Amino acid sequence: MFGKRILLGITGGIAAYKIAYLIRYLKKEGAEVKCIMTPASCDFISPLVVSTLSQNPVAIEFWNKQTGVWMNHVELALWAELFVIAPATANTISKMANGGCDNLLLATYLSMKTKTVIAPAMDLDMYQHPTFKRNLAQLIEDGVFVIPATSGELASGLEGQGRMEEPEQILEFIKSKLEFSTALKNKKVLITAGPTYEAIDPVRFIGNHSSGKMGFELAKACLSQGYHVTLVSGPTNLELVHSNLELIKIESAEEMLSAVQSVWNQINIGIFAAAVADYRPNKKAEQKIKKSESEMTIALVKNPDILRWASDNRTNNQFVLGFALETNNSLENAFSKLYGKNLDLIVLNSLENKEAGFKKDTNKIVILDKQKTQIEFELKSKKEVAVDIINTIEKYLM
Ligand code: C5P
Repeated sequence: MFGKRILLGITGGIAAYKIAYLIRYLKKEGAEVKCIMTPASCDFISPLVVSTLSQNPVAIEFWNKQTGVWMNHVELALWAELFVIAPATANTISKMANGGCDNLLLATYLSMKTKTVIAPAMDLDMYQHPTFKRNLAQLIEDGVFVIPATSGELASGLEGQGRMEEPEQILEFIKSKLEFSTALKNKKVLITAGPTYEAIDPVRFIGNHSSGKMGFELAKACLSQGYHVTLVSGPTNLELVHSNLELIKIESAEEMLSAVQSVWNQINIGIFAAAVADYRPNKKAEQKIKKSESEMTIALVKNPDILRWASDNRTNNQFVLGFALETNNSLENAFSKLYGKNLDLIVLNSLENKEAGFKKDTNKIVILDKQKTQIEFELKSKKEVAVDIINTIEKYLM
């Protein structure tokens, strides 16, 4: 953990006294530690202890009343490679889940660009309360990692689940999280996006309404996590430039297939979001077709299924996610594609929702896995949906 930058958030629970040990362990491992305390936590552990052990000033208020110096939460969030909130009280978890921002710790959480880990601690009835469970579920959906509370004797004298995990175990969790995010940085993601255009003649084609927005948002979400991305896109109005991005623009399904084939063996994660035309004209006319007869027939032949090719040629280490856009029997059809195409996950978006699908900025998805788990998400912007999808893939890879 040498040189790793850990931001430690301490909130007001009795378990705060154990954080002194966590700071010592982190320092012993060579990590840099900065701490933010909520005002309430100062009743449980002295800021002097925290600052002495972490060898850094402790941030508590938005500004230091003695010096008038402003504490820059954005800078703290940018500095951190990982934000660990331990102990995390029911109050802080509730505010995190609902966008509350009335102290420095919460403002920093809202500014975080990397991962946040929480170690909840509270009394057993609070831990089982439906409100708390709802807030915790929300944080998990938002991509926060949770170190569950353990069972045992509690400060109230009662026994049950609610004890903060021991500092040694929190340290192990932090280590595995950091190793995982370092490993991620070397991972290569392939994303297919947009429609394909199947030429009829030099000026006409068969296409569809796909805008490519979902695929491009997925590429942006991956790039902001540090992945290397190859984005194979059909015709769209979208542009994306990034030092870790290779953008391959194609028109037809056959071109998309060869682009995918050219990189597939270097790819760790394949995300197939393109709306590939199922059929193409059996031949492209050399010249613009003149109108003559009152009726005209174009013979179509089946296009290659790019996703199927990729999953037929996958190694065990490659993770494959497909999309299903369904108008009826959505779940049933999506599950049969998940099994039929041998995918790890399938993202179902149903055209039954008016705010979801082609050309829209929002999407409503359900992610399905082979164990028949269905993870349902709210209607969200495609940007947020992309983050949900990447977070879900990461959880399956861990
Ligand atoms: O079978 P269906 O077209 O509904 O499957 C959808 C999934 O398969 C999507 O992930 C889509 O990108 C992918 N696909 C593909 N090549 C095709 C057809 C679909 O990659 N020719």
